[in-house]
Amino acid sequence: MKYSTSLPLLSVFASSALATGPLEFSLRSEPHSELSRVAERDVDGTSESAVLTNFAGQLGMKYFVNFTVGTPGQLQTAILDTGSADTILVPSDAPFCKEKGAKCLGGTYNASASSTFEMITSSALDANYGETGTDSGFVADLATDVIQVGDVVVSGAHFGIAGQAEGNFLGDSSYAGIMGLGYSAMEAVKKGQPYYPTFVESLVGAGAIASRVFSLYLNEVNSYGSILFGGVDTEKYTGNLTTLNLVQAGVNGKMVQAFFMYLDEVMMKRGDGVEETIVAPNEIQEFVYPDSGASDWTVPTDVYNKVVNMTGVTVTKTNAVMACSKISNETSFTFTLSGNGTNTAKLDIPLSSFFVPAAKTDGSIAKIGGEDACLMMIKPAASGSKFYLLGDPIIRAGYWVYDLDNGQVSIAQARLSATNSNIVAVEAGPHGILNATNQPAELSTNQTQRVAGTATASVSYSLYTATNAVGQTSGPQSTDISSGAISLMSGIPAEGIVFLTGALLLSVVFGAFIL
Ligand SMILES: *[C@@H]1O[C@H](CO)[C@@H](O)[C@H](O)[C@H]1NC(C)=O
Ligand SMILES: *[C@@H]1O[C@H](CO)[C@@H](O)[C@H](O)[C@H]1NC(C)=O
Ligand SMILES: *[C@@H]1O[C@H](CO)[C@@H](O)[C@H](O)[C@H]1NC(C)=O
Ligand SMILES: *[C@@H]1O[C@H](CO)[C@@H](O)[C@H](O)[C@H]1NC(C)=O
Ligand SMILES: *[C@@H]1O[C@H](CO)[C@@H](O)[C@H](O)[C@H]1NC(C)=O
Ligand SMILES: *[C@@H]1O[C@H](CO)[C@@H](O)[C@H](O)[C@H]1NC(C)=O
Ligand SMILES: *[C@@H]1O[C@H](CO)[C@@H](O)[C@H](O)[C@H]1NC(C)=O
Ligand SMILES: *[C@@H]1O[C@H](CO)[C@@H](O)[C@H](O)[C@H]1NC(C)=O
Repeated sequence: MKYSTSLPLLSVFASSALATGPLEFSLRSEPHSELSRVAERDVDGTSESAVLTNFAGQLGMKYFVNFTVGTPGQLQTAILDTGSADTILVPSDAPFCKEKGAKCLGGTYNASASSTFEMITSSALDANYGETGTDSGFVADLATDVIQVGDVVVSGAHFGIAGQAEGNFLGDSSYAGIMGLGYSAMEAVKKGQPYYPTFVESLVGAGAIASRVFSLYLNEVNSYGSILFGGVDTEKYTGNLTTLNLVQAGVNGKMVQAFFMYLDEVMMKRGDGVEETIVAPNEIQEFVYPDSGASDWTVPTDVYNKVVNMTGVTVTKTNAVMACSKISNETSFTFTLSGNGTNTAKLDIPLSSFFVPAAKTDGSIAKIGGEDACLMMIKPAASGSKFYLLGDPIIRAGYWVYDLDNGQVSIAQARLSATNSNIVAVEAGPHGILNATNQPAELSTNQTQRVAGTATASVSYSLYTATNAVGQTSGPQSTDISSGAISLMSGIPAEGIVFLTGALLLSVVFGAFIL
């Protein structure tokens, strides 16, 4: 069984608030005007970094985090992926970056230029991404070095160095590193190779954070989001933060070792107040996976047909498009999620969150009926799918606390474009989130299933605080798609609305994955 996060072949861009409010797709429009605030020092027991999406032509489609690796530190801009577990970097001498038309956009790592690099095992990792496991992938050496996120510096952190790459990670022939945030049981270690501590586990091992917890806040595309290791920011959500027990499924038999949960129901509410059922209770029996590396919400075919019918999109061979101006500003979805227990979490998601402008190679927007076209980020899953992906359109709307130690995910409605911050470190133990957030106790739950533990390795970690933080900023993020990396991208041919073959699904093979 394989595991998916989606990677687009298309370069498509959103220019404005996808997750809330009216759509504004004017490409040069400046985002909201409040001043950028550079974050202060990390709160003890936590480490925070900005999450960016206007990078490598992936606005609204992929989310990235900056960190440095090595001594002295070498900047990496890597895809944040809750759908995989390996952190894999692109080396400075990568042969695949030198191929015709190839671009390595997120920085590279030169092991020879780091005094703290240590090789662990050559070719230990074989990470295959894609629904079939053949769409794209990295073969990587396993190494350790110093990694800095925010102002937290950890030595002895494991990561992969890609020697070979296949497929397209960021559109045609473009690659970036990836930071996998899943359980070590999901690692793409070759047969016979031991699991090793993930980046999150290294933070725990070094004592930077108390337990395997991180909070993800993607935010609107015209603002920076945040990844907060070891803590919860109670100013970044509204209403209840509800804890769900993850369900058991995975490689090593029955235990919690991936972020699987259930999608109970999806209602669509139109401007005229009429409610339509998109996913009826019990309609989707399979698990769902909140996957930051996935650009789409993937659904069974009948749900897809319902969405197509109700939104009025035009289905081309591989995509669904509509004039951006025709996307109803008054239509929204309510998602009801649950885990193994009685708690349910609801998320309100505007229809506009599921669309991004259909950008062409030259940075202009494809037309439909003479108007700017938008692409729908809802895709039918491959037939026989064992689970469905809750990708970025859904994750943007929420505040997600991934608690690997307790096998739980806590979800609240995001407070978008939040200007305040109240970071609370989460203590280890089953009450960690509850104690940090002051939620009513009935919103917590106790995990009764076995939860995958931390991989061990013979490394001695050390931890220190850097004087210069990496990748910490907040406030508005440019949405100008004419700048920077976009000109490097190829995607939809400039001639017109000829869409390429849909989105590639990124997946990590983890052996015989049992569901
Ligand atoms: C890597 O670093 C070494 C040592 O600083 C340097 O000699 C070499 O040119 C660098 N390689 C690349 C590809 O940048
Ligand atoms: C939050 O949870 C409490 C306790 O279950 C409930 O009474 C309240 O209605 C919830 N609030 C919202 C906004 O859902
Ligand atoms: C849910 O929990 C029950 C016991 O609490 C357990 O028997 C069952 O296997 C769990 N189901 C899943 C899918 O995790
Ligand atoms: C589309 O929706 C309309 C009204 O809800 C319904 O009558 C029609 O059968 C639907 N068409 C398809 C193809 O599902
Ligand atoms: C939604 O709002 C945008 C910006 O205000 C507007 O351009 C667009 O026409 C509206 N869409 C609909 C369907 O009303
Ligand atoms: C959480 O609070 C409870 C009750 O106040 C306390 O007994 C427990 O030790 C706390 N746990 C943690 C991990 O802080
Ligand atoms: C979780 O278990 C503790 C005792 O271990 C109990 O006090 C608490 O009420 C339980 N919480 C829920 C939500 O069941
Ligand atoms: C992240 O790094 C990229 C270079 O790869 C840089 O352009 C960008 O400004 C950085 N962003 C933050 C928030 O540090």
